[in-house]
Amino acid sequence: MTPLKLQPIPYQGSKRALAPRICKLFPKSIDTLYEPFAGSAAISVYAATHNLARKYVIGDVYPELVQLLTLIINKPDDISTRYQSLWEGQFIEGASHFNSMRTRYNDDRDPAILLYLIARCVKNAIRFNRQGNFTQSVDKRRTGMQPQKFEATAHAVSRLLKGKAEVICADFAACAANARPHDLVYMDPPYQGTTYGADKRYAEQLERDRLVSCLADLNRRDVPFILSYDGKTGDKEYGARLPDSLNATHLYIHAGRSSQATLAGRNEVTLESIYISASAAEYLTSLPNYEKETARQFELFA
Ligand SMILES: C[S@@+](CC[C@H](N)C(=O)[O-])C[C@H]1O[C@@H](n2cnc3c(N)ncnc32)[C@H](O)[C@@H]1O
Repeated sequence: MTPLKLQPIPYQGSKRALAPRICKLFPKSIDTLYEPFAGSAAISVYAATHNLARKYVIGDVYPELVQLLTLIINKPDDISTRYQSLWEGQFIEGASHFNSMRTRYNDDRDPAILLYLIARCVKNAIRFNRQGNFTQSVDKRRTGMQPQKFEATAHAVSRLLKGKAEVICADFAACAANARPHDLVYMDPPYQGTTYGADKRYAEQLERDRLVSCLADLNRRDVPFILSYDGKTGDKEYGARLPDSLNATHLYIHAGRSSQATLAGRNEVTLESIYISASAAEYLTSLPNYEKETARQFELFA
């Protein structure tokens, strides 16, 4: 499988670079692929590019992101025109443009403005405060994804997914509730430690417990799942492993060099954990050893 070129939403944490390896673990003929923590929906887009499933259910809990994905899939012309005019606005208004768009977005939650903010903000990393307002700052060194590139990508994604994908705003458990044994649920939840909430630790534990109970329910219903969850950089592990009771196979995927470690003068790679449920692993004749790939192999592949 070839690397994924299409990326309509330049989302930090996107699985675009890892999509070929993750999708290599997928069962051969998937009826519906569920992606309940969709973000930019990189895995659904990759799977559709390679015809890996008949239908797609793309879900996320963030309403404006879901509206944006819906526009890209169903109305690529409209969203491309909006993005172009927002993008051009920065050359007319100048340095204050990003902040005025951010204020406007926090008032009216227009998904086209969200796209512009994601494309223009630092590291394409969305950040919100407790009130749900977008707080990330502008990246002063770049002007953001070119409108022509976005337009071509949005049309390509629309051709792949229009009529095949249902895009829903829902909690992950509700999104996966109708999945059946011939489907596959791929999950990429926020890492443990990045969950927000008044008491962060409590919220983290609660989310993890909910996730584990949803996965146990998928097992009971014989629905195959694959889950990306935490990992390690050098010797530092992030988050606790999932319980053995889920009976899932654990692999590490080489996810590239850690930029933070490189800045600190250490040559460390990040390995992401991936869990394959017993019913999904049944389809695999052998387990790939992604952990042992060299950084060079990773760079060539990504
Ligand atoms: C790590 S990102 C997924 C990135 C995605 N794999 C991609 O390639 O862009 C996690 C996503 O889960 C969403 N999310 C967080 N909590 C959720 C929940 N309880 N139910 C559904 N989605 C949730 C966030 O809005 C975010 O877009």
